[in-house]
Amino acid sequence: RRVMVLFGGRSGEHAISCATAGAVLRAIDRERWDVVPVGITTQGQWVLAVDDPDRWAITDGTLPFVPGSDGDVVLPMASGERTLQVIEPGQVPSAIGDVDVVLPLLHGPFGEDGTLQGLLEMSDVRYVGAGVLASAVGMDKDFMKIVLAGRGLPVAPWTVILPGRWERDEAGCRAEIEKLGLPVFVKPARAGSSLGITRVADLADLPAAIEEARRHDPKVIVEQGVVGREIECAVLGGRAGERARASLPGEIVVHGDKHAFYDFEAKYLDESSVELTCPADLSPELVERVRELAVRTFEAVGCEGLARVDVFVTADGDVIVNEINTMPGFTPFSMYPRMWERTGLPYADLIDELIELALE
Ligand code: DAL
Ligand code: MG
Repeated sequence: RRVMVLFGGRSGEHAISCATAGAVLRAIDRERWDVVPVGITTQGQWVLAVDDPDRWAITDGTLPFVPGSDGDVVLPMASGERTLQVIEPGQVPSAIGDVDVVLPLLHGPFGEDGTLQGLLEMSDVRYVGAGVLASAVGMDKDFMKIVLAGRGLPVAPWTVILPGRWERDEAGCRAEIEKLGLPVFVKPARAGSSLGITRVADLADLPAAIEEARRHDPKVIVEQGVVGREIECAVLGGRAGERARASLPGEIVVHGDKHAFYDFEAKYLDESSVELTCPADLSPELVERVRELAVRTFEAVGCEGLARVDVFVTADGDVIVNEINTMPGFTPFSMYPRMWERTGLPYADLIDELIELALE
């Protein structure tokens, strides 16, 4: 079966997507899958990518990217060599019709947000992961919380600053934010990897934080800061009508005070100050509650294939959903595959399982 490994993309998480793809290209079972690596540049051009895992790794703090192309790129297919037209932004790529399944290893807008999923649905091509609506809901932290709260699942209180609202009604925004209590987290509604997020402990810092979030998205949310342990849980879609499966939870521990929270630096560039522990040291009762809540979150959003659910566990033993990621980071060092590894599903088998779920 032919699998298109699709990565890069137009979002701020382009480099993280490349790193994820590099790891998948290294581990995927080549006897089983005929792999076609395709990169999307930051401008939205689709190109046949170099099938070399090392090329896509984050090395010594240098972030990888998909280089654009000036001409056609040769794509060797089983039926003989053929050409993959370089797809300019705004054109629909015909090459996706030549594969059995797409593995969209894209994070952030234009990849993880339902836009690509819509393109694949229209093209009648199977793909790994969440569909159009679940991807869109998972990408937008405002709608994500509305959906989860609507299903009765616990989320931290928040307020939304729609485009233009701060200018029209700063006093109203401030009143809502003060009601949340400090600290708050100011976040772009639709971004990932903590891009554009600021922890605000002093209201004087609010305008700068909103401006920073708006560099990524004109829609911004302000969330009550939850004091608790950062626990994550990996969810994998169920086979043939079965319920989705949850892994053993893991925990993120940020050491020192260099990072106010688990930010982009801490996630990818400063491994020394972050510890990913799996399984998390939680009571069996809490482990079960986290796993159950992760599956219910996956179901509430209507996910398929995979998702990572991030929660807070407070000192009182409350479990609160922070967010769901419908295409979580996927290098062997990332939490999602590590949690499955610890639960008994090794990296390469996890890739097989995800592709098989998409083909089912
Ligand atoms: N958005 C990043 C890739 C994650 O959730 O892991
Ligand atoms: Mg996220």
